[in-house]
Amino acid sequence: MIPFHSNSRQHDNLSQDLTGALGSIDLKDDTAFARAVEKFEGMLADYCQVDSAVAVASGTDALIIALRALDAPAGAEVITCDFGFYATAASIIMAGFTPVFVDVAPGRMVMDLDAVRDAISPNTAAIVPVHLFGEAIDMLALKQIADQHSITIVEDVAQALGARSAGQRVGSFGTASGISFNWSKHLSSFSNGGAVLTNDREIATRVRSLRGHGNAGSFRHTRMGLNSRLNPFEATLLSTKLPHLDTWIARRREIAARYTRNFASSSNVVTPTATEAEAHVYHKYTIRVPDRDRLRKQLADQGVGALVCYPWLLHDQPAFEGHALRPHSFDRATEVAAEVISIPVYPELTDAEIDFISETILSHVESAS
Ligand SMILES: Cc1ncc(COP(=O)(O)O)c(C=O)c1O
Repeated sequence: MIPFHSNSRQHDNLSQDLTGALGSIDLKDDTAFARAVEKFEGMLADYCQVDSAVAVASGTDALIIALRALDAPAGAEVITCDFGFYATAASIIMAGFTPVFVDVAPGRMVMDLDAVRDAISPNTAAIVPVHLFGEAIDMLALKQIADQHSITIVEDVAQALGARSAGQRVGSFGTASGISFNWSKHLSSFSNGGAVLTNDREIATRVRSLRGHGNAGSFRHTRMGLNSRLNPFEATLLSTKLPHLDTWIARRREIAARYTRNFASSSNVVTPTATEAEAHVYHKYTIRVPDRDRLRKQLADQGVGALVCYPWLLHDQPAFEGHALRPHSFDRATEVAAEVISIPVYPELTDAEIDFISETILSHVESAS
């Protein structure tokens, strides 16, 4: 059995360090919990090369809070990609804004920058680029577009912690950025966690207030915030794991390269591309194949977990009816959503497992063609 996702293999390798760190929290020290969170915030800010990291309870909260911290007018438009995870668009709506969806770039699974340019209107307040599956968007090009129109960028780094664009960590380009540490992420907590990153002091102050019900001090609430704190035990787990992240990312890149080599013999498997060596951290290794649903079943029959990320475009989610503006065009995203399947890519996979998964996929595409 090769599960799609496994934290148990990682936790098995780190079990002494993790239990040691969790056990060392002094329950009789009233300051221990706050210090555990502050320690992680400091480590995360250093890793992401930003001035401030403010920990919150989830990636969804991080995006809502980052967007609310912009103080943009209610109902303003926020541009994001039509292909992606529900939480991005939901956060835009929960922050009080209107998502405007754009297509993916040709041959890619991230937003098309030409489509972003076309989607800008006098009501656009922000762009939320999603570095989907761990692939960094060209942030210098996006920043140029945003700056030309005086529009703010809030990066969704939930799947791309550690990736770089033009040598710089994603999450450090936007006015603010949201990260997720949920159980499925490549830096994972036991259940949920998130953080807002920023280089802007004023935004950092607002974010700290927004994570505590918008309290400006002395029970005076100046903004509608959330009650969103990172659990100190999760913070301790994350501080213990963070020093390993670059090694894990290096192994993810090795696994991705092995898959891509294995699939090179078939023109029926479209493999993920990275525009620069450090641009992709392979949070997910997502391919495009014909007859994707049959492949998923075939993999399951062989004991291999796979996930369709994501079968629906965001503009088509029933929950968003009446909330979102129709996308300008979504032809490429429609094709992508019909063909994608994500396969296991966690660092603890063995080469034999990678080759077995590859062979199962190759035999499927040969029979499907
Ligand atoms: C792209 C993206 N954005 C936002 C989120 C929301 O993060 P969380 O699950 O921590 O709320 C996720 C989580 O899966 C995600 O993948």
